[in-house]
Amino acid sequence: MTHITPSPYDLRTRIVGIDERVPLLDGSLATYVNLDNAASTPALTDVLDAVDRFMPYYSSVHRGTGFKSRLSTLAYDQAHEIIAEFVGANPHTNTVIFGKNTTEAINKLSFRLPAKPGSVVITTQLEHHSNDLPWRARFPVEHVRALPDGRLDEDDFDRLLAQHAGNIALVTVTGASNVSGFLQPIHRLARKAHAAGAQILVDAAQLAPHRQVDMKPDGDPEHLDFVTISAHKMYAPFGTGALIGPKAIFMQGAPEYPGGGTVDVVTLDEVHWAGMPDRDEAGSPNVVGAVAMAAAAKALMAIGMDQVAAHEQELLAYATERLLAIPGVTIYGESNPARLHEKVGVIPFNLAGVSHFKLAAILGYEGGIGVRSGCFCAHPYVVHLLNLDDEAASTWRTQLLEGDKSNMPGMVRMSFGCYNNRDDVNRLLAMLERIARNDYAGDYRLDRQTGEYRPADFTEPIASYFTL
Ligand code: ALA
Repeated sequence: MTHITPSPYDLRTRIVGIDERVPLLDGSLATYVNLDNAASTPALTDVLDAVDRFMPYYSSVHRGTGFKSRLSTLAYDQAHEIIAEFVGANPHTNTVIFGKNTTEAINKLSFRLPAKPGSVVITTQLEHHSNDLPWRARFPVEHVRALPDGRLDEDDFDRLLAQHAGNIALVTVTGASNVSGFLQPIHRLARKAHAAGAQILVDAAQLAPHRQVDMKPDGDPEHLDFVTISAHKMYAPFGTGALIGPKAIFMQGAPEYPGGGTVDVVTLDEVHWAGMPDRDEAGSPNVVGAVAMAAAAKALMAIGMDQVAAHEQELLAYATERLLAIPGVTIYGESNPARLHEKVGVIPFNLAGVSHFKLAAILGYEGGIGVRSGCFCAHPYVVHLLNLDDEAASTWRTQLLEGDKSNMPGMVRMSFGCYNNRDDVNRLLAMLERIARNDYAGDYRLDRQTGEYRPADFTEPIASYFTL
């Protein structure tokens, strides 16, 4: 039988809620356009189908004796194997630990990483806070600088590696930036980290939905020692993330979060910890989330990440060119058509004279378009990309700490999923052209505490769409 791989264009029909119409400020309805996939993707129908098929059998795992428990245990164990395959991990030497999301996974590693006292974690200025703050809490941290255009300063990376060689607890980098979309040369960085005697973690939350993640064989100089991923960014928003790394590392110590399921034997005086991954998955796990995540991984593998990447690159080139043609638009990071392959489908931009908060609000209320604006949980990187001087940065920080977000710097971010198309981009561009001409209807009022703009005298009919 011939296996036909669906084109990414067919994926539109496999996105839950793709045709949903939402209310606009003028009382009309519009099909919602989601260009906020870097924050969270909608679910694939493959995922919802798998959850629907699984739910009648859902039961406790690793403890019940009934058929449903045995089935649930099998499904949960299979989910670990599928995620290992998805990231190219050797399942014999590596473990997949399910948790809530990438943030939890990185926090876990920050507790579980065996490290010499005083050894340094090297991260970068490009990181989302989740790949920075957990490290700051437990280690001295060095940040590799970003270049003025937002790329990693690899000379600074080399300098820090050389300075700390032999005393590095971990090198940790994002696989793709959630702000600029820049892809990191993760395998080259891994090679360099290993040569300096260090291990590397790749935060692949933003990479995995867009590109193939391949940890490579354990002994390969370009092997990724640890990888983290989040299901809500890969079409399975059911509250699961995963940390993948060497079993031997996690077998070395006690879990930072002990409890039921993490042990083989307990007496009133002694605890013998279980093997992996049980030792690091305390309590009843999110079995449904794991099934959903594995279903998404299987669907993405069947579609082919090369197809996904090719489709998104075409859309990125189209959107970038058209966006730059609108007077007053600035794109941060890369917008040169010849270099767009160095990033995933994430475009941070601003429109002169309109606050990013207000711009995002008008797109939502009058265009039915979902984007995110602000600093994207990456304050140091956004301040850098905006080229704010110390005085400007310190002024807004002081205001913010006093409860006034109105001058918070930021950008609007358009970010693609594998199902977006030119029509989606055109909808956003048409609204932007109108906003650039001041052609919008709402009288937007700023809430200084949140920084959000809302149209005056408008009550959204949300309860008629969903309520509990
Ligand atoms: N990382 C998420 C985002 O960029 C929170 O929106």
